[in-house]
Amino acid sequence: MTFTPAISGFGLGLRAEHYADLDRDGVAVDWLEIISENYMVGGGRPLYWLDRLRERYPMVMHGVSLSIGGTDPLDEAYLDALAGLAARVQPGWISDHLCWTGIGGTNLHDLLPLPYTEAALAHVAARIDHVQERLKRPLVIENVSSYVEFAAADLGEAQFLAELVARSGCELLLDVNNVHVSAFNHGFDAEAFLDTLPRRAIRQIHLAGHSHRGDYIIDTHDAPVAPAVFELYASAVRRFGPVPTMIERDAEIPPLADMLAELDAVRAAARWERAA
Ligand SMILES: [Fe+2]
Repeated sequence: MTFTPAISGFGLGLRAEHYADLDRDGVAVDWLEIISENYMVGGGRPLYWLDRLRERYPMVMHGVSLSIGGTDPLDEAYLDALAGLAARVQPGWISDHLCWTGIGGTNLHDLLPLPYTEAALAHVAARIDHVQERLKRPLVIENVSSYVEFAAADLGEAQFLAELVARSGCELLLDVNNVHVSAFNHGFDAEAFLDTLPRRAIRQIHLAGHSHRGDYIIDTHDAPVAPAVFELYASAVRRFGPVPTMIERDAEIPPLADMLAELDAVRAAARWERAA
């Protein structure tokens, strides 16, 4: 039987550096997001901490290798492992990215953007249907950051996401930092992007830091959330309401106390916007 915990408020991406510090009473984190692949093989320390921390915190699962946009067949062994982990974690939801990660059995270990065409839309919607049937729940799809666009695109990324929701019933993980990064790199309007998304489909928000290189921005997740991303987040809260929000930090990981202080700033930004 599936037990789906209610997820609300403000969370963090679970990182091994914080395992012990999170295993205490009174830590101001409402929920945790785990990277699914880190807990899909073997046992040992990660699974020990997963089970232990799951007793304290509701969790959501976030994958990086589903390759929902790829042309290789979906990896059924991967889906089995994902379903097995979901049975263990009982997550609020399961997410992955709107991207492809490889071809011909080779994983490129990168989240590559799709051409936003009608053909790609039909392809991805059918694959989402398959995954949702296998997992017996809606799949939550995240917008990626990108540095290139395809000349063949006939839809914008936000339109493509909206169409995917309409066709497959999937939900969305809105990465506000990725919107900011892609908007800067490609010169589109981030506010218009948010306006195009279907309001009720937004299940979760990601915030993260990036690296500004002058002409372009790289989505590095190695720094605090930038002021411009906080501003765009405030716009998102005005539009979408109190969507569960978390910070992703993947490199230069600071002590938990620093992450909690940053999460408090996110809480304050959301509270202020909702009161305004
Ligand atoms: Fe993200």
